[in-house]
Amino acid sequence: MQKLPLVSRLEVIKNSKRILKNPLPFHRENFEKFGDLFRVSVAFEGEIVFTRNPKIVKHILQKQHKKYQKSTLQTVDLAKYIGHGILTSNGEHWRTHRRMVQPAFHKKKLHNLMGTIRSAIKVELEDIKPGVILNAYPLMSNLAFQVVAKSLFSSEDIREKMQELQHITEVNQRMLIKEMRQPYLKWWFNLNGTIKKHLKLAEDGQELLNDLIESRRKSKIEKDDLLDMLLQARYEDGTAMSQKQLIDEVLILFTAGHETTANALSFLFFLLAKHPEMQEKAYKEVKLVDLDSEDVLPEILKLKYVQHCIEETMRLYPPAYIIDRVSLENDEIDDLKIPKDTMVLMSIYELHRYEQFWELPNDFIPERFETLDKKKYQDYYYPFGAGPRMCVGNNFAMYEMILAVTEILKKYRITTNLKTLDINPLISLKPLNVELKFTARI
Ligand code: HEM
Repeated sequence: MQKLPLVSRLEVIKNSKRILKNPLPFHRENFEKFGDLFRVSVAFEGEIVFTRNPKIVKHILQKQHKKYQKSTLQTVDLAKYIGHGILTSNGEHWRTHRRMVQPAFHKKKLHNLMGTIRSAIKVELEDIKPGVILNAYPLMSNLAFQVVAKSLFSSEDIREKMQELQHITEVNQRMLIKEMRQPYLKWWFNLNGTIKKHLKLAEDGQELLNDLIESRRKSKIEKDDLLDMLLQARYEDGTAMSQKQLIDEVLILFTAGHETTANALSFLFFLLAKHPEMQEKAYKEVKLVDLDSEDVLPEILKLKYVQHCIEETMRLYPPAYIIDRVSLENDEIDDLKIPKDTMVLMSIYELHRYEQFWELPNDFIPERFETLDKKKYQDYYYPFGAGPRMCVGNNFAMYEMILAVTEILKKYRITTNLKTLDINPLISLKPLNVELKFTARI
């Protein structure tokens, strides 16, 4: 480890202003200077290892995943607002609950949810004002939130309650970012009651979910939605999840499934607006599918070009642009020795744009996924992570995005006056001011 190049604390302090705004150029400069692996000296964490080496990423996420766990950023800092569900836990607690949550996302189960997801998307798309330039991000954010909401609580009339929950989720996420970006002010946030105020908000959100879950239990009506799946899940001894655990898992699904999808969709519509010829190619494909068909899933799975557009978007703008792990014991990868308790940040953003693996890495070329051998690129393409902690909602997210693209492209032509899109890498990689115009197709 000592042999690895080190970015000194002084260097970090000197660059702190621009790192706060957008750390990606700083990462890039150091990767270019030092190669695929370097250390950064950070005030409160000691040293962090950064990597874009595919062998190391595969080793940590897949081959030797048992030697690593998530950092306290998710299991403590995020968990204090959204509880200990599968996104925010480690070890046996994670393993047990992953086993229980995963069946809800089985392809067969998602098949039954397609109608619900589609109608949630259609309701949200009514907010599009044709012919005017608008920021598409809030639209996509509402869409992604309501899709998770309706998939969990399929038939309840919950719009208002969900808007309140969305507000709480977003406000608390912003607070968490403040805490992460200004760790030296944590004492002040504690002292002036800011943290307490946000923890109270989190409690209000939990209370709201508690009431919804309670009334579902009392109704005794089977709905075949995600909540029913979680209610029916059993531990090995045959018992069900406690109410507290259920609330935590439900909150996790909102948190993990909402912003990531909203980001990917916003980037995607921007890229299609910038590349009208590709938008036209995708339109020609969606024009032919019948979304009113009884069985919509096989219909949307025919949309190969749309899928490649989504895959290419998440290559260029992976919502989970960095994945972190901490070593639980001493480990070795070739001649690299990783001591216990080392924090490793794997830059998915850098890996996805590495010229060694991708031709014209900064260009939007969905066609590359037509020809790329899946086996070949799986070692340097991780939009949904990999190994046992891979995104549990990956199929859900893909189906949702294909449906959203299909609904929109069938109705609108998308354009933009933006030359480039500014990004805002926070917990996830977010776009800023996605100014788009949706013109009705005649
Ligand atoms: C474009 C959309 C999405 C992207 C890019 C994405 C990406 C990811 C990634 C990279 C991870 C793994 C993180 C790690 O290994 O540290 C993850 C985990 C997770 N995702 Fe997603 N996700 C998306 C949508 C969703 C949706 C729609 C849901 C649920 C409704 C969801 C639920 C989860 C959960 C619960 C985990 C934690 C899994 C575990 O640790 O066992 N995600 N996601």
